[in-house]
Amino acid sequence: VTRILVLSGPNLDQLGTRDPALYGTETLGDLIARLEKLAATRQTTISHTSSNFEGELIEAIHAARQSADALIINAGALTHTSWALRDALELFDGPKVEVHLSNPAGREPFRHVSTLAAVVDGSIAGFKGASYDLALEAVLRLLAERA
Ligand code: DQA
Repeated sequence: VTRILVLSGPNLDQLGTRDPALYGTETLGDLIARLEKLAATRQTTISHTSSNFEGELIEAIHAARQSADALIINAGALTHTSWALRDALELFDGPKVEVHLSNPAGREPFRHVSTLAAVVDGSIAGFKGASYDLALEAVLRLLAERA
């Protein structure tokens, strides 16, 4: 069984009511439940850590070095600011995919830069909740390539 850790950064716990035109109407709980079902069809389990605190996300990445085969991360606005999260991700050897519900490249200039981009395998953005389905597919393909 493949184990994937999904990480949700600041303000993603407000999904459902947070700017639905950009982020969709699904709550984070709905989204993760849907992803778990999809993963189950691929012999894959999802664990999920959601936090508004940078350090908690960093510690979840450290723990994932022992407990997860791959990471899917939506770091929220920490994507644009956090060198510490970038350094933590660099320590994780398995496949890593950055995911965004919206398309940051088409939004305000401060969202155009990702501190994480250079240490992940790739990123998927702009498809609302479906970005996560595509990210799951991406990490499974990366794992298959490495096997
Ligand atoms: C986001 C994009 C970020 O710029 C923003 O700060 C978020 C959500 C997304 O999923 O589209 O919190 O990561």
